[in-house]
Amino acid sequence: MLNARLPEAASPPTATGTKWREERVLDYRYWTPRLVSFRITRDPGFRFVPGRYARLGLVGADGEVIWRPFSMVSGAQDDFLEFLAVLVEGGQFSPLLAALKAGDPVLIEKAEFGFLTLDQLAPGDNLWMFASGSGLGPFLSILREPAPWRTFRHLVLVHSVRYLDDLAYRADIEEIRDTVAGIEGNADLRYVPVVTRESGGTLSARIPQLIEDGRLESAADIKLDVATSRAMVCGNPDLTQEMRKLLAVRGFATSRRGVPGQMAFEKYW
Ligand SMILES: Cc1cc2nc3c(=O)[nH]c(=O)nc-3n(C[C@H](O)[C@H](O)[C@H](O)COP(=O)(O)OP(=O)(O)OC[C@H]3O[C@@H](n4cnc5c(N)ncnc54)[C@H](O)[C@@H]3O)c2cc1C
Ligand SMILES: NC(=O)c1ccc[n+]([C@@H]2O[C@H](COP(=O)([O-])OP(=O)(O)OC[C@H]3O[C@@H](n4cnc5c(N)ncnc54)[C@H](OP(=O)(O)O)[C@@H]3O)[C@@H](O)[C@H]2O)c1
Repeated sequence: MLNARLPEAASPPTATGTKWREERVLDYRYWTPRLVSFRITRDPGFRFVPGRYARLGLVGADGEVIWRPFSMVSGAQDDFLEFLAVLVEGGQFSPLLAALKAGDPVLIEKAEFGFLTLDQLAPGDNLWMFASGSGLGPFLSILREPAPWRTFRHLVLVHSVRYLDDLAYRADIEEIRDTVAGIEGNADLRYVPVVTRESGGTLSARIPQLIEDGRLESAADIKLDVATSRAMVCGNPDLTQEMRKLLAVRGFATSRRGVPGQMAFEKYW
């Protein structure tokens, strides 16, 4: 089905085609049977700020286009777009995504969206990036750019997953640390994996608990205080909600009316 060209009847609501274009799958990589990274072609006119997301469309069995948001994992300068996706049982988009092969069409809206960007944050010493599951993606895009390495002294990437195998992009994180950091700035990157349903030498409780009991700050060897730190949180909506409350108690606020704050969020459902 997805090998076929987009049928006429499948035109999305923006039928003029002015809001979207068709790209092609270049490559995909399964980290686990439920976690996949995929690359698509990129029109040079599609620009984005790292941390933001695109809206992707796939054609369902009835010819209807299903649209879902996905954060860019690739860098703003890459000539392809890369995404990291959890395949959800019972979802509409996930089975279509799982069936994709190289060369298949993917629709993408021409606009990019979201507020999980560095310009939402006031200057600070430390940038904490808290991700759950596929929420890791936008932080990789951010880390591929010079800006965070030049702006902050310490970068802390906290990735919470259920199982060890869900810790995607570990080698890429090392590579980014070695290449971008060496070239671009003075910051160091501290990667803190958290695995909640399996033991394997990592921290193993949920992020808010690890903050409350001080274990996360100890592991990163950085204080999470509003005087020095900025925080970005991405993924599970319960996590973003809990973190919003926890950080607010410590004096963090989101940006308001164009005035940068100390924390920024993206929730995935
Ligand atoms: C702003 C934004 C950015 C997003 N970026 C990404 C991304 O980069 N990668 C990604 O995998 N998903 C992302 N999502 C979620 C994605 O758009 C889809 O919801 C997801 O691919 C599942 O689609 P579906 O139609 O199969 O199921 P849906 O009907 O959309 O979702 C069904 C259920 O699956 C669960 N679920 C949905 N997404 C996830 C997820 N990412 N991780 C764990 N459980 C989930 C929730 O319980 C949800 O209620 C994003 C969502 C938003 C709002
Ligand atoms: N990952 C898998 O192998 C797997 C297996 C079966 C099904 N799925 C499907 O995949 C989706 C889940 O994907 P996922 O595992 O990437 O996402 P997830 O359920 O959001 O879990 C990712 C990480 O976030 C943590 N988390 C969840 N709620 C939190 C909260 N309120 N505060 C702090 N941390 C929180 C989880 O801890 P906890 O472990 O404590 O929840 C886990 O460490 C579901 O649709 C599920 O049906 C995934």
